[in-house]
Amino acid sequence: MENNVLVEVKNLKKYFKVGKDATLKAVDNVSFNIKKGETLGLVGESGCGKTTCGRTVLGLYGATDGEVLFEGIDIHKLKGAKKREFTKNAQIIFQDPYASLNPRMTVGEIIAEGIDIHGLYTGEKRQERIYHLLNLVGLNKEHASRFPHEFSGGQRQRIGIARALAVEPKFIVCDEPISALDVSIQAQVVNLLIKLQRELGLTYLFIAHDLSMVKHISDRVGVMYLGTMVELASSKALYEKPLHPYTQALLSAIPIPDPDVEKNRQRIMLEGEVPSPINPKPGCRFAARCKYAKQVCSEVSPELKEVEKDHFVACHLFNE
Ligand SMILES: Nc1ncnc2c1ncn2[C@@H]1O[C@H](COP(=O)(O)OP(=O)(O)O)[C@@H](O)[C@H]1O
Ligand SMILES: [Mg+2]
Repeated sequence: MENNVLVEVKNLKKYFKVGKDATLKAVDNVSFNIKKGETLGLVGESGCGKTTCGRTVLGLYGATDGEVLFEGIDIHKLKGAKKREFTKNAQIIFQDPYASLNPRMTVGEIIAEGIDIHGLYTGEKRQERIYHLLNLVGLNKEHASRFPHEFSGGQRQRIGIARALAVEPKFIVCDEPISALDVSIQAQVVNLLIKLQRELGLTYLFIAHDLSMVKHISDRVGVMYLGTMVELASSKALYEKPLHPYTQALLSAIPIPDPDVEKNRQRIMLEGEVPSPINPKPGCRFAARCKYAKQVCSEVSPELKEVEKDHFVACHLFNE
């Protein structure tokens, strides 16, 4: 393994049993890695498995199959002190800043929870640390004694970020951290995450349902469709030259700020319904909605293959 890789996900599967004979394949054979200091964006429509993937990568869900290596070690096999060390090093920022903060705890208590669990600081040092964290996320020490309901959505997300940072993690899964916020606040929170990454040397898995949201923050972006990774490339390559028909459709739905270009924008409409991830049919999950689909597409699952340097796509169009 290259030593600049922090997280390596190999053929990860997370299935849920639903009913007697039904298996919901939320994450099905997904592989990617995240380099130290990098932001990997993960996008796809609601229900495609982004949260499940993020949680399985953090060990919050056990894996059905496959591996998640953190600094080269499979996190699903960790026990005792090693496991605690990983739970300190790998944190999450949740999508909903309203539901994710305990309304009966003060902001100071919320932020200090991880510090106490991991025994990082006590007494005056602990208090200083809480103030420092509030400062770091653009709040101030007076906020420590207040309760979550006294804050706006954007401020609550800052509290969620301070909580994640409290235990000095190396890696943070940001699970749609801006989706629930007003558009006017979204850029502020993204810019804060970028600033913190730079200052603290953090590595991010940044989940979003919309490609336009991940563009600014991500070095590379992975596109998921119904539990599978269909394309993975640098942000630049993905936006300038999307290869998978699904990525092309997703990108074509983003409005372009230039009115002349916007006027002539070709939107690719996706035909048909999103199929169910329960007992999925063999073949490419996107085949039923793909205008280029051939016989092979409904028979064989395409593998994620490198078709240009560092540009991976899982599509039979590229398997000639
Ligand atoms: N605990 C669970 N039990 C059963 N099904 C689940 C569970 N969690 C998620 N799912 C299903 O897995 C699929 C992926 O969900 P999720 O990872 O939340 O998608 P996303 O974050 O991309 O919206 C969905 O079909 C969802 O209903
Ligand atoms: Mg989700």
